[in-house]
Amino acid sequence: MSHEIVEKNVGLMALIIVIVISFGGLAEIVPLYFMDDTTQPVEGLKPYSALQLEGRDIYIRESCNACHSQMIRPFRAETERYGHYSVAGEFVYDHPFLWGSKRTGPDLARVGGRYSDDWHVAHLMNPRDVVPESNMPMFPWLAENKLDGVNTAAKMKALQALGVPYSDEEIAKAAAEVKDKTEMQALVAYLQNLGTAVSIR
Ligand code: HEC
Repeated sequence: MSHEIVEKNVGLMALIIVIVISFGGLAEIVPLYFMDDTTQPVEGLKPYSALQLEGRDIYIRESCNACHSQMIRPFRAETERYGHYSVAGEFVYDHPFLWGSKRTGPDLARVGGRYSDDWHVAHLMNPRDVVPESNMPMFPWLAENKLDGVNTAAKMKALQALGVPYSDEEIAKAAAEVKDKTEMQALVAYLQNLGTAVSIR
């Protein structure tokens, strides 16, 4: 019986199992590459400004994403707390995206506009000053470190090559736009933009 051949041959069985399982995976994954919902930016989505882009890199450097996700799941407990659930089209210009799943702190996908710039600065200097029970670390050096803008244009060019619609004019102005701004200003500009592009909030 052919069934017996498969059962008595571990290598063959493993191979067949892999083939069967990958069909399931492919049936779910492949269509995502061709659906507008997942590949097209949502209406109103703008690429990060030069300053916001530098802020995003600081966010990654400081590992904010180790404690904060940026992806609101479509469950009531999440949408009541954070706002409308995240949709794929909001992240089309994110390379790489910072969805994550580890939440030592709250999700930040729609934190933009929720607090004032001053609140963010105070919070990043020492979270306990504004949230007494907070166990988030302090990031006081962000207020001292200045950006030089040396790599900003190159970063934007790299993103442009990946399909982010930066104009050459925006790229040419990038260095001047960020030069001498503090890392704090860049990070806050990035945070204040999170989740604000879409009208579905
Ligand atoms: C060790 C984990 C940890 C790290 C790293 C961390 N945070 Fe937090 N964060 C928290 C916790 C816990 C809270 C909730 C208490 C509070 O508001 O301070 C929080 C709260 C926040 C809030 C307020 C969110 C809200 O909706 O009230 C913002 C904004 C924030 N963090 C930004 C950042 C940024 C930016 C960085 C990186 C520079 C960062 N966090 C790094 C743990 C962390």
